[in-house]
Amino acid sequence: MRRSVTIPFQLLEVILVLASMCEAQWAIGSSSHCTQTSPREVRPHSVTITEFGAVGDGVTLNTKAFQNAIFYLNSFTDKGGAQLFVPAGRWLTGSFELISHLTLLLDKDAVILGSTHSDDWPVIDPLPSYGRGRELPGGRHRSLIYGRNLTDVIITGDNGTIDGQGNVWWNWFRNGTLNYTRPHLVELMNSTGVIVSNLTFLNSPFWTIHPVYCSEVVVQDVTILAPLDSPNTDGINPDSSDDVCIEDCYISTGDDLISIKSGWDEYGISYARPSSNIIIRRIAGQTSSSSGIAIGSEMSGGVSEVHAESLQFFNSKTGIRIKTSPGRGGYVRNVYVSDVDLTDVKMAIRLTGNYGEHPDASYDPKALPDINKITFKDIRGDNISVAGLLEGIEGDNFVDICLSNITLNVTSSSPWNCSFIRGYSDSVSPDTCEPLRDRIFPHHSSSCYHISDDLQTQSDRKQQSWLMPRLSFSFTII
Ligand SMILES: *[C@@H]1O[C@H](CO)[C@@H](O)[C@H](O)[C@H]1NC(C)=O
Ligand SMILES: *[C@@H]1O[C@H](CO)[C@@H](O)[C@H](O)[C@H]1NC(C)=O
Ligand SMILES: *[C@@H]1O[C@H](CO)[C@@H](O)[C@H](O)[C@H]1NC(C)=O
Ligand SMILES: *[C@@H]1O[C@H](CO)[C@@H](O)[C@H](O)[C@H]1NC(C)=O
Ligand SMILES: *[C@@H]1O[C@H](CO)[C@@H](O)[C@H](O)[C@H]1NC(C)=O
Ligand SMILES: *[C@@H]1O[C@H](CO)[C@@H](O)[C@H](O)[C@H]1NC(C)=O
Ligand SMILES: *[C@@H]1O[C@H](CO)[C@@H](O)[C@H](O)[C@H]1NC(C)=O
Ligand SMILES: *[C@@H]1O[C@H](CO)[C@@H](O)[C@H](O)[C@H]1NC(C)=O
Ligand SMILES: *[C@@H]1O[C@H](CO)[C@@H](O)[C@H](O)[C@H]1NC(C)=O
Ligand SMILES: *[C@@H]1O[C@H](CO)[C@@H](O)[C@H](O)[C@H]1NC(C)=O
Repeated sequence: MRRSVTIPFQLLEVILVLASMCEAQWAIGSSSHCTQTSPREVRPHSVTITEFGAVGDGVTLNTKAFQNAIFYLNSFTDKGGAQLFVPAGRWLTGSFELISHLTLLLDKDAVILGSTHSDDWPVIDPLPSYGRGRELPGGRHRSLIYGRNLTDVIITGDNGTIDGQGNVWWNWFRNGTLNYTRPHLVELMNSTGVIVSNLTFLNSPFWTIHPVYCSEVVVQDVTILAPLDSPNTDGINPDSSDDVCIEDCYISTGDDLISIKSGWDEYGISYARPSSNIIIRRIAGQTSSSSGIAIGSEMSGGVSEVHAESLQFFNSKTGIRIKTSPGRGGYVRNVYVSDVDLTDVKMAIRLTGNYGEHPDASYDPKALPDINKITFKDIRGDNISVAGLLEGIEGDNFVDICLSNITLNVTSSSPWNCSFIRGYSDSVSPDTCEPLRDRIFPHHSSSCYHISDDLQTQSDRKQQSWLMPRLSFSFTII
């Protein structure tokens, strides 16, 4: 059936705006992995850790109680799953392992404390995508809370606390007496359907929350704290994982607040498991030595489809950073960072093509990373030293780097410093470097990730409709 309809121009404009909003919503909002989850969904069986002999005095080691409780709950995994409740108290423990269809629920006054004896953190194999421990050759200590090959795991609580008591690990690291790579606070490996929410994480020995080879991961409403000078206490590191949503978090640590990774040099290249479809939004925090959001430097399996929005970083070294090196191979592409507020940050944006750090001498220096379609949009900053240090790789330019609507109050007299990069910009102050000076609109918007010319045409139309309010528009619906 065909009929011709006449639609007043304003109505058409509404339709077009709605259509473009739906499109934007679809790109970011509709991804199922970011939808509101209900961690309080009741499991049919529940036990309390004290039923297994745990003592919450901060001194008694409760590793066996956690292991026994989880072993017992294993018989309920095919009956709808189970919940392990940790009541108010200080529950010292070594590393323990989770199971599928489990909820670990903390009371608001529950504190799980990591043992300060390295023996309570067993040594496990290195990740295949890293080939060795990240800090030392060989194995690595297993995280305090660990899970492998799982589905449907929830770690939550009324803002209860998981404290790694990492100080002793930082000292072993500083005085060079570690035998193996330090443990993470929480690591889930090769798992699907993971929720970590409503908790406070303190003083991780190393990275704090590490999903690796995982799908459908939500990290929501968490606070992550470690001293600003603690070594490598990254906040959240999605690593060779897809469909990851990180939202509404406050993070203040000694290293990158969120860092997306995918394996290291030849090991990451051959494991070939990318990180993709990563949504990050409403994150605030500080890191005096590193970045608010980082990608890399381990990115050899590839990183793509990253949307990071509504970010507030202060008192930090770098706002957003991509780190890579010859030898990494892999790619970082289709990255969209927008709505960023920076205060007292030394460098707003940094791209680093010569990061270095290799697992061993067998990396291939000709394995060059492919960095393209990276958009930075709607960024404002106060008391920024340098706007951007954007360094690609000679013979391997980083391309389609797009800067749009960036206003930074910069103290340096040479705010942008660019080498081996190409791209486009619009409305950038202070004025950007020469390789990015071509305008995004009207000819290059399709080269920039997630910038269509919708916005431009919308505002043109708005003007037209204001100028010609009685214009009508006619088209055919099939
Ligand atoms: C991942 O977990 C699944 C089961 O959940 C298992 O079949 C598979 O072998 C695991 N792969 C690795 C690399 O651990
Ligand atoms: C996970 O799966 C891998 C590969 O099938 C297997 O080697 C490993 O033992 C499993 N680990 C656990 C804890 O189930
Ligand atoms: C999260 O924790 C707060 C208390 O800090 C509590 O009021 C709220 O119900 C919790 N939310 C969920 C979804 O459990
Ligand atoms: C959770 O606890 C942390 C640390 O005490 C606090 O900063 C944060 O505001 C709390 N969050 C909520 C939602 O109560
Ligand atoms: C290294 O630090 C640990 C933890 O603080 C301490 O127990 C140990 O004595 C130190 N070793 C040396 C050689 O300084
Ligand atoms: C390293 O190994 C030595 C020798 O076994 C041991 O005495 C020391 O406690 C270990 N250090 C750590 C941090 O585990
Ligand atoms: C500007 O930021 C630096 C840190 O980068 C800080 O030390 C300094 O106090 C800030 N200046 C003002 C005027 O706030
Ligand atoms: C530019 O970015 C700021 C946030 O930094 C935002 O408030 C403003 O609406 C943006 N302007 C346009 C034209 O999109
Ligand atoms: C930039 O910072 C200086 C010093 O803090 C201040 O005087 C000036 O008003 C700021 N400019 C803008 C555009 O915010
Ligand atoms: C640009 O950065 C390079 C490398 O960090 C540095 O050597 C050079 O001095 C910088 N140039 C300017 C004008 O700041």
